Amino acid sequence: MSDRIKFLLEESALPTAWYNIVADLPEPPPPVLHPGTGQPVGPDDLAPLFPMALIQQEVTTEPWVEIPEPVRQVYRQWRPSPLYRARRLEQLLDTPARIYYKYEGVSPSGSHKPNTAVAQAFYNKQEGVKRLATETGAGQWGSSLAMACAFFGLECKVFMVRVSYEQKPYRRALMETYGAQVIPSPSTETEAGRAILAKNPNSTGSLGIAISEAVEVAAKDPETKYSLGSVLNHVLLHQTVIGLEALQQMEMADDEPDIIIGAAGGGSNFAGLAFPFIGRKLRGESNPRVIAVEPAACPSLTRGKYAYDFGDTGGLTPLVKMHTLGSQFVPPAIHAGGLRYHGMAPLVSHLYELGVIEAVAVHQTEAFAAGVQFARAEGIVPAPESNHAVAAALREALRCKEEGVSRTILFNLSGHGHFDMQAYMDYFAGKLEDYEYPEEEIAMALAGLPSVNA
Ligand SMILES: Cc1ncc(COP(=O)(O)O)c(C=O)c1O
Repeated sequence: MSDRIKFLLEESALPTAWYNIVADLPEPPPPVLHPGTGQPVGPDDLAPLFPMALIQQEVTTEPWVEIPEPVRQVYRQWRPSPLYRARRLEQLLDTPARIYYKYEGVSPSGSHKPNTAVAQAFYNKQEGVKRLATETGAGQWGSSLAMACAFFGLECKVFMVRVSYEQKPYRRALMETYGAQVIPSPSTETEAGRAILAKNPNSTGSLGIAISEAVEVAAKDPETKYSLGSVLNHVLLHQTVIGLEALQQMEMADDEPDIIIGAAGGGSNFAGLAFPFIGRKLRGESNPRVIAVEPAACPSLTRGKYAYDFGDTGGLTPLVKMHTLGSQFVPPAIHAGGLRYHGMAPLVSHLYELGVIEAVAVHQTEAFAAGVQFARAEGIVPAPESNHAVAAALREALRCKEEGVSRTILFNLSGHGHFDMQAYMDYFAGKLEDYEYPEEEIAMALAGLPSVNA
């Protein structure tokens, strides 16, 4: 066998269409409901928030959606992204497993998020929108959308979860460098923010709260639309460019993954890598295990309920059926800010219900220990979110060693951690705590689920 380390595709191999897993599902996912009527939402209900092209992508059942040329033009700056074989990590672990990772940290903002940010900015610009409002947890999404807005000449307003705003001033500076306005959330700018602050003036914020603020701004201003960095079908669709490239790269490596792994916050980088492979699985062409990895402090798949819920804390969004901890759930201030979301993408939730994918929860100290081991072997310092995928890959590689079996493991290294060194410093200083969410608190948050579930 060759000792090749990286598998690179020519620019000409960049996919020309995104893959829509809905076309291959054995049963369609449950519809999105209007919170007032309890009936499925139509395009007109979503029009104040999203441009029509994205609303159409949200509901399409076509297997392929063409990637517009201006979007491919931008993608080409860093795509196709590299696939690496982690040979030094394999040696360090002394495992018979073959470990591969798709590295999305090569994008200018440092993660997979521009794959959808660029597409969303493009469609909004095409439909004459002036400004995008959004939320950000860790800052990866906000900086990606800020960059995409700069490319397409849109204004960008980012509500940044307060705990991240305080922990990560350099992410904020990056967004401002790209020209975005950044506001700590909860803020006094919106009704949703003011209501939270009235109840808890020291609120550290959450993605659910920041989403409410951004949605409110978009709903009230005809020139502003809302942009979401995960969860929705069209976001997952855009991310499939990752897996479509990885399919070609695994072929170059003359290998086939037995296990596919991704960290899951809202589910988009996991879906991006996994969906094209799951499509093959659903069509009976291969049968890998597919594992979504979530933080034990925010365990929507492994401990949440599959139910209709709001996407935000203020109850402004439509109702989606997903694994949720309840939209009132405020996760503890763990360092993987991008994984602190109460729900999981409806498509990922549906696949979990169908038994097509598995889920595991990992504590943050295990995730950071894995990230440090990975950095020392491979040189790349992963984002705290990505560390969760690394931890699960290490678990599987060590299991191969115990069982004396060689399996092929492919995981998504969704971003680098260059802006997250404070989190690494806290880890080295022994300051990171593991939170096991008490069952009563989860039950309490779930008790507030909307009545459509009754
Ligand atoms: C590097 C990185 N990985 C993963 C995530 C989690 O989001 P998703 O589950 O949508 O990929 C984030 C979110 O901010 C992120 O920044």
